[in-house]
This record gives sequence, structure tokens and C-alpha cells, in this order.
Amino acid sequence: MAGSQIQKLAFLAGILLILVNLGSSALHRIPVQRSPSFKRSHKMIVAERDFIQQKYTRQYTANGYPVEQLSNFDNFQYYGNISIGTPPQYFLVQFDTGSSNLWVPSSSCLSEACQDHQTYYGSESSTHVANGTAFSITYGTGSVTGYLSMDYVGFAGLIAKNQTFGEVTTEVGTNFVDAYFDGILGMGFPSLAVDGVTPTFQNMVNQGVVQSPVFSFFLRDNGSVVNYGGELILGGSDPSLYRGGLTYVDVIQAAYWKFQTDFIKIGSTLISTFDAAIADTGTSLIVAPVAEYTQIAQLFGADSEGTFQCTSLDSYPDLVITINGVDFRIQAKYYIIQENYLCSLAIQSISGQDFWIMGDVFLGRFYTEFDVGNQRLGFAPVNSAISARQLALWQIFTLALACGVWKLWY
Ligand SMILES: *[C@@H]1O[C@H](CO)[C@@H](O)[C@H](O)[C@H]1NC(C)=O
Ligand SMILES: *[C@@H]1O[C@H](CO)[C@@H](O)[C@H](O)[C@H]1NC(C)=O
Ligand SMILES: *[C@@H]1O[C@H](CO)[C@@H](O)[C@H](O)[C@H]1NC(C)=O
Ligand SMILES: *[C@@H]1O[C@H](CO)[C@@H](O)[C@H](O)[C@H]1NC(C)=O
Repeated sequence: MAGSQIQKLAFLAGILLILVNLGSSALHRIPVQRSPSFKRSHKMIVAERDFIQQKYTRQYTANGYPVEQLSNFDNFQYYGNISIGTPPQYFLVQFDTGSSNLWVPSSSCLSEACQDHQTYYGSESSTHVANGTAFSITYGTGSVTGYLSMDYVGFAGLIAKNQTFGEVTTEVGTNFVDAYFDGILGMGFPSLAVDGVTPTFQNMVNQGVVQSPVFSFFLRDNGSVVNYGGELILGGSDPSLYRGGLTYVDVIQAAYWKFQTDFIKIGSTLISTFDAAIADTGTSLIVAPVAEYTQIAQLFGADSEGTFQCTSLDSYPDLVITINGVDFRIQAKYYIIQENYLCSLAIQSISGQDFWIMGDVFLGRFYTEFDVGNQRLGFAPVNSAISARQLALWQIFTLALACGVWKLWY
């Protein structure tokens, strides 16, 4: 008697767990991974700072500025597998909320960077439609150029039909040669897109293939994990990946994912009030406006590259970013890189920039929801107890429990 009560209870519990799982089936997941050789070091920080300078400096010319070739791309780390065409051709792309175009190398590209990467063969895809409009994105010292084409683009199990993208035929001076990814899939707003092309996620929303116009990133903060850097989730957020509720803030200009911070402090020292910031998955550092950076560097006695002598990181205060009244704290060990007695701030600055760029140093600590429909961002501390294996085990456990209970019922 009592036994059968327990069985019934267990059955109900199983059904509940199944419902919880079904509820999250509106979410489509794509694992993102880091470069196998990702490492935070002073050299990498400086190389990346220079790359970010190029990314955010649209009218930049090589004149009068020392052109610095980047030796590697290991820090531009979050990329995943997408398909283009029918049958699918696969590409590794960086999911970049700091830009809005999709581009991959074309089979007709003869540049060295294209030789080392997957290239797109339009002639082998039954869903390919030629467009031919010229396409070009400048990266400071170089550029990728080519023409637009249209085809089916799939990731996370969803397909955007008739997606216009750049088929890159020339990569000059960009040093994408060393990049692990083949191309970039921009997840910024349409107004940022070159040639007025509709961005891929926007296309998925327009075609109704994603239930909710929301995507979110769970980025694991430490680079040693090669195969599970985190997840990009289309269609919503997964509460099991963060702690507490999301703190929402409106996007103040729908181009980059730009929002307003209340305060930014180092410990109790006020660095800025009401500064704008953008959430950029294509950057691993935090980038501050020059005046704010100068103040931070002075606090640490750091030089222009953010380097200073140090012994232990324990004595340094948190970086505190207040968003919509809520403090988001980042411990010193996450925003300072220590190599023996040399410390480097993972906070840098680039010239001509009046907003902060929140890359992985921030996004790796805080789960981020990009709500396209409501033009807002949601942040919450990541649930650092979660690992890929635990996620999979949880799902297996749920299934097993449900199946087991089902058996008991009969
Ligand atoms: C991308 O996914 C396809 C299909 O699952 C797979 O065959 C291919 O090896 C993957 N590519 C990479 C580089 O992981
Ligand atoms: C995609 O393009 C093809 C050919 O131009 C057209 O026939 C089809 O209706 C389009 N599909 C969608 C979903 O826009
Ligand atoms: C090529 O794509 C652009 C951007 O989507 C569009 O405005 C233009 O009409 C297309 N041109 C052709 C010839 O299809
Ligand atoms: C990152 O991982 C390395 C080695 O796996 C470890 O030494 C380091 O303390 C970790 N850093 C943080 C901030 O957790």
C-alpha cells in the first residue's frame, strides 16, 4: 500500500522532470569551444588589445600608426560549427555580438588565409542563390573582401533559409591565417550590418524557426577546457546555468549590444558614473575608455600596457560593475593575469572609444541573455558548478528516473 503510494509519487516526480525537460526543448543549443591553445598572458593581452583597436576603429588607416601584425588568434576564442548549403558544408565560425555580418572563405579565394580553412562551394549547393554585390569588412591593417551570396545556414539544429552572407575571395593583412575559425557569424543588430544584409539570427526570427527572439551565452571562464567552452542557446535562457534571476537593462542604441552602467568601481574607488558599455562575445578582455583606464592603471601603478609588479592577487579589490542597481563583482584573479611577479590587467584601453567593451573577463563570469525582441540584456552570475559532463548526466538522470518510474507503475 505505502509502497504503491511512493511509486505514484515517484511517477509524478518523473512526469514533472519530463515536463521541465520538454519546457526547455524550445531552447536550441550549440556548444562553443575555445582555441586549443588559449592562454592568458601579457603577450596575448597586448596582441588582443591591438586587434580590438582595429575592430572598433572604422576609419583607421595604416598611415602614421605602427602596424602591428598579430601573431595569433588564440584569444578570440568562442567559436562553433555551422552548416551552409544543401547538402551541408561545415564551417567553424566565431559567434560575435560585436558585428552583424556572416562571412566565410569562398572556394574561389586564393589568399593564404583561405587555403588553411574550409571554403564554400556555391556550385555544390542546391539551395545556393547568387547575389554578387561587393562585400568588404575592414580590420584596420587589412580587410576581407568578396561578394554576397545566399544559401541555407544552420546551427543549433535550426535553419535560416535564404541567408545572405559574404563569400570572401581575398583576405589581406588580417592574419586570419592563424585563426582556428573559418569565418565570423555576427550577432549584433541589423544597423551594424555591411550592405544592409539581414543578420542570421534576425532571419531565423523573421522565418519563425526560433520560438522566441532571444539568444544567450554561457561562457566558461577558464581556457583550459578545449571542447566545452560553453553554450550558445537560441530561443531563450537556461536557468540551470546561472544563479538567481537575470538583471535586465535596456539596449540604448541597437547597433552594438550597448547598455548603460550605473557605476564602475575598483573596490570602493569610483571609476565612472553612467558610462555606456557593450557586451561583445568577440573580445576576451574588458576595454575601458582612455580616461577611465588611466585612473585604473594609476591605482595599480601599472604602465601603458597594464603591467605592474605583484606578489599575491588576494589583496587586490574586486572590479564592481553596477547595472540597473545590481552589483556585478569580478575578483582580482579574473581581471588580473599573474605571471610570476609580473601582473597584467585584463582591462585595457583603445583610443577614440567612449564606451566600455565587456568581453570574456566579464561575460565569462555572468551568463548573458541577448533579448532581440525587447532590445534588452539580462545578466546573472554563472552557475560555476555546471560542467558539460554534469549537464549531460543531469539529462540522462532525468530520463533514467522517468523511465524507471514508468516501469514501476506497471
Ligand atoms: C561540424 O559538424 C559536422 C556534423 O555533425 C561534423 O561532421 C564536422 O566534423 C564538424 N566540424 C568540426 C570542425 O567540428
Ligand atoms: C528562398 O529563395 C528562393 C529562390 O529565390 C525562393 O523561391 C523561396 O521562396 C525563398 N524562401 C524563403 C523562405 O524566403
Ligand atoms: C543582394 O543582397 C542585398 C542584401 O541582402 C540585397 O539588398 C540585394 O537586393 C541583393 N541583390 C541581388 C541581385 O539579389
Ligand atoms: C584557470 O585554470 C588554470 C589551470 O587549469 C589554473 O591554474 C588557474 O588558477 C585557473 N584560473 C582561474 C581564474 O580560475
